[in-house]
Amino acid sequence: MSYHPDLKGKVAIVTGGGKGIGRAIALGLGASGAKVVTAARTSQEIEAVAEEIRSMGGDAMAKMTDLTSSEQIEALVQFTLDAYGGIDILVNNAARSFLRPLIDLREDGFDKIFSTNVKAPFLLGRAVAKIMMGRGGGRIINITTTGAERGGPMMGAYFASKAALKMLTMCMAVEWAPMNILVNAVGPGMTKTQFSMPLWTNPELERQLTARIPQARLGEPEDIVGAVLFLCSDAANYITGQTIYVDGGTLANT
Ligand SMILES: NC(=O)c1ccc[n+]([C@@H]2O[C@H](COP(=O)([O-])OP(=O)(O)OC[C@H]3O[C@@H](n4cnc5c(N)ncnc54)[C@H](OP(=O)(O)O)[C@@H]3O)[C@@H](O)[C@H]2O)c1
Repeated sequence: MSYHPDLKGKVAIVTGGGKGIGRAIALGLGASGAKVVTAARTSQEIEAVAEEIRSMGGDAMAKMTDLTSSEQIEALVQFTLDAYGGIDILVNNAARSFLRPLIDLREDGFDKIFSTNVKAPFLLGRAVAKIMMGRGGGRIINITTTGAERGGPMMGAYFASKAALKMLTMCMAVEWAPMNILVNAVGPGMTKTQFSMPLWTNPELERQLTARIPQARLGEPEDIVGAVLFLCSDAANYITGQTIYVDGGTLANT
């Protein structure tokens, strides 16, 4: 990643910052000068990413957090305030899905998906916005997906949750624009991470998926970072309520 806007002195929380797209975003923010708190359930992974940022000369800490718990969300916010004295950037990246037809999806599976993908960004976004209001503004980036725009099999509740997150992004943007809190979304197409591994490790499935992408390849986590950094930068001072899709042309290919 060679694009690094000046985010020196900014404090950022990245949920799901221990691997995949969240790890790449945390590293990108760290390399741009932001102080980063990585948050997820697997402490070893978020600690490793924080250490990677520190080893590049940046400043980062990790906070083990289960985003399905409102108490742990509050603890994450307090941890960040105690560590760095404020919050300027929130990247709601963590997400949950089950690869299963809707007819077989259990009620508790549906609840886990909506709790992680919609309720947590709401609770964390609301808590962080109250702090940003006292600091003259901030940036919230919600990570959605091309699946927020198109239906498809096997991930129905996940796609529905991301469509809800897209709308939450727009409503947060409208309500919080007067406080200079800009809220946008970044929607990746199929990206090579653990999350999507069952799809891209099957050669025939990968061939079929790639055939539908105009740029003829799946995304890498690093492909997603530039759009997030741009939305955190001064260059995006008049952009709110939008989704930038980073999908190699997938959604344009109707
Ligand atoms: N990969 C793709 O093809 C693709 C495509 C479109 C959109 N996206 C979106 O991109 C984002 C990142 O996905 P990814 O592919 O990088 O996935 P990933 O590698 O599976 O990472 C997901 C992250 O979310 C965290 N997480 C899940 N449940 C959590 C919970 N209850 N509390 C705290 N953290 C939790 C996981 O950490 P722990 O398990 O340690 O908690 C992990 O760090 C997601 O929003 C996803 O919807 C991905």
